[in-house]
Amino acid sequence: MTTAVLRAAVALAVFVVLPFLCPPASAQVPEPPYRNLRVLPQNITRAELIETMRWFSFGLGARCEACHVGPPGGAIAEFDYAADDKPLKLKAREMLRMVNDINDRQLAAMPDRTADGPRVACITCHRGQLRPLILEDTLTRVAAASSAAAAVTEYRTLRDRHLGDGTYDFGPQPLMNVADRLAPADTAGAIALLRLAAEFHPRHLSTHRRLASLLLATGDQEGALFSAVRALELSPQDPGARRLLDRVMGR
Ligand code: HEC
Ligand code: HEC
Repeated sequence: MTTAVLRAAVALAVFVVLPFLCPPASAQVPEPPYRNLRVLPQNITRAELIETMRWFSFGLGARCEACHVGPPGGAIAEFDYAADDKPLKLKAREMLRMVNDINDRQLAAMPDRTADGPRVACITCHRGQLRPLILEDTLTRVAAASSAAAAVTEYRTLRDRHLGDGTYDFGPQPLMNVADRLAPADTAGAIALLRLAAEFHPRHLSTHRRLASLLLATGDQEGALFSAVRALELSPQDPGARRLLDRVMGR
């Protein structure tokens, strides 16, 4: 890993306190030399290594023991960090190679790239989760495997658990995107997703507009009228909302 990546990692770790991820770890992490570094520099200091590992843990929402072997419930000092027994550690190493390649080779070769240009870190994609899925992909998968209703339940669960922690975008757009994907084959499901968006984002114009046209298409005149009026209330000058109301009124 380059020093710039390490600096970014240290800066991140300084600003982000990680009380729940291996709090007593630092004091017990072994001193160099480290025995099995294939990607990180051999001359890495103990402080840099600890910050890098915290950067992994924070970026992936994973504890040290997700990648390193130790006695169950055992102290951090008893871990065999050099061992490559855990598949997740091997994957993390490949990821580290990938991130270095992106930053040091691909981004470095971007035209007009400046020295302080943004760099990619684990958290850029992972956002605190092992599987870096964005919300609309997660919900689309649930809807495909089960039902739109299950996707609605999943959204509520994820929102309760993750609102404000940066893992997912709980704004209206991901829900609208899922609704758009569902609409051709499952209009009722798409409407359920849009109603969910309207519940959490009652002032989002496009949600009400889209809801009105889908409701109209299913013959729910009353529901369509309600949503069209709501859209016009939110944006009295909006020609789209006006046209929609005319359509609902049969004008
Ligand atoms: C997502 C997986 C992952 C997590 C979580 C993780 N590590 Fe690591 N760790 C690695 C990888 C991969 C390497 C080897 C890097 C290389 O090959 O250059 C490593 C190497 C190490 C080493 C050097 C071992 C040696 O002698 O070669 C230590 C010490 C270490 N980690 C401690 C920790 C601590 C403490 C934590 C928790 C704060 C932690 N790690 C969290 C993946 C992880
Ligand atoms: C460019 C986006 C991106 C970045 C940056 C990134 N990852 Fe990943 N990572 C992925 C994707 C996509 C997957 C899923 C791969 C798959 O299909 O298994 C993944 C999977 C993983 C897994 C396996 C998870 C599992 O459940 O099997 C680990 C561990 C991991 N990444 C660690 C890291 C670490 C550590 C970093 C930072 C050094 C990092 N990743 C940076 C995109 C990224």
